[in-house]
Amino acid sequence: MTDKYRPLKDAFGRFATGIAVATCQNDDGRMTAITVNSFTSVSLEPPLVLWCLDNRASTYSAFMSSDSYGVSILRADQRTESDRFAHFAGPDITEEEIERWDTGAPILKERLAGFDCKLVARHDAGDHVILIGEVVKFDSVVGEPLVYFSSNYIPDSE
Ligand SMILES: Cc1cc2nc3c(=O)[nH]c(=O)nc-3n(C[C@H](O)[C@H](O)[C@H](O)COP(=O)(O)O)c2cc1C
Repeated sequence: MTDKYRPLKDAFGRFATGIAVATCQNDDGRMTAITVNSFTSVSLEPPLVLWCLDNRASTYSAFMSSDSYGVSILRADQRTESDRFAHFAGPDITEEEIERWDTGAPILKERLAGFDCKLVARHDAGDHVILIGEVVKFDSVVGEPLVYFSSNYIPDSE
């Protein structure tokens, strides 16, 4: 079956991005994680970021009912993590893999940068919702990023 959105996806995909894992803590004590490349920095004062969540994602209700989220920017050697959190019913994220800072949202221990965010606004935008967060704590280390371009990781080694 042909994908009528393929040409638009191809054009959007010409914009190279990093890869992040957005995470939240659920009411039932479980954690939710999703691979995203829509993460963007927005503002320095106050410090704001955003990412866009597909309305049809299995993780939608978890993020919609959480008032905070974590963002972990992946390193070049974390392609496995990117694939893992891009699949429904992937292995549950464990406490051993995460840290919690101020909001209680999970942040991956292994990362290039981390952002602990308080949700400040949600905006419906077509088939996605834009989740704007105020950064209450962050860190970063020197390293190579995982890069995504034209539906492939760069370098496309596998
Ligand atoms: C590189 C990459 C980037 C992605 N970026 C986003 C994104 O920004 N927003 C989003 O909602 N889904 C994004 N996805 C899709 C989700 O990670 C996930 O695959 C999708 O929600 C389907 O999972 P589900 O079956 O659990 O709903 C991305 C997937 C990949 C591989």
